Amino acid sequence: MFEIREMEPGDLDGICRIECASFSTPWAKVMLAAAMRFSGSLNFVCERDGILAGYVFSRLTGTELHIINTAVEPSMRRQGVGTRLLRFLTDKARDKGALWAYLEVRKNNLAAIRLYQKHGFGIVDTIPGYYEDGSDAYLMAAAVGKRD
Ligand SMILES: CC(C)(COP(=O)(O)OP(=O)(O)OC[C@H]1O[C@@H](n2cnc3c(N)ncnc32)[C@H](O)[C@@H]1OP(=O)(O)O)[C@@H](O)C(=O)NCCC(=O)NCCS
Repeated sequence: MFEIREMEPGDLDGICRIECASFSTPWAKVMLAAAMRFSGSLNFVCERDGILAGYVFSRLTGTELHIINTAVEPSMRRQGVGTRLLRFLTDKARDKGALWAYLEVRKNNLAAIRLYQKHGFGIVDTIPGYYEDGSDAYLMAAAVGKRD
């Protein structure tokens, strides 16, 4: 059974492993540790039977939720973990006064773009050269202030 809970410092090593398995330019451990402590951070993990399945980092500033980073353990993908994390996060953020959520995603990351679109996000802009390797990003946004 999958369960979602607030991220804790003890999750760092597991997050680091999933991060490295998920991105060509993963965040360093020190960056992940720093993101755990950002002011306004809303960070959650998903576990299955005590095993870390995925995580999401975000930051709430006023009424805007910035989803900074999310990934799911490769062997546990396509089982609804990303969906559960996103839904849990937006529910929590709404309770704290969020009206909007936004994020950046690589233009060629179809899995993530579909996940976000299913959750009501739309592409609102393109950010040329957003990533270190020069790749472009889509800026995606959704209203989270009202339930569907
Ligand atoms: C993107 C990611 C978080 C999705 O996590 P997940 O747990 O597999 O997602 P879900 O099982 O909740 O899938 C929800 C929907 O997203 C879409 N989706 C997910 N993976 C997909 C894939 N490989 N190809 C196409 N669509 C996909 C589908 O519409 C899916 O619904 P469906 O299974 O009913 O068709 C995961 O693939 C991942 O960790 N990728 C690497 C890290 C990453 O890219 N993070 C996002 C950075 S912006």
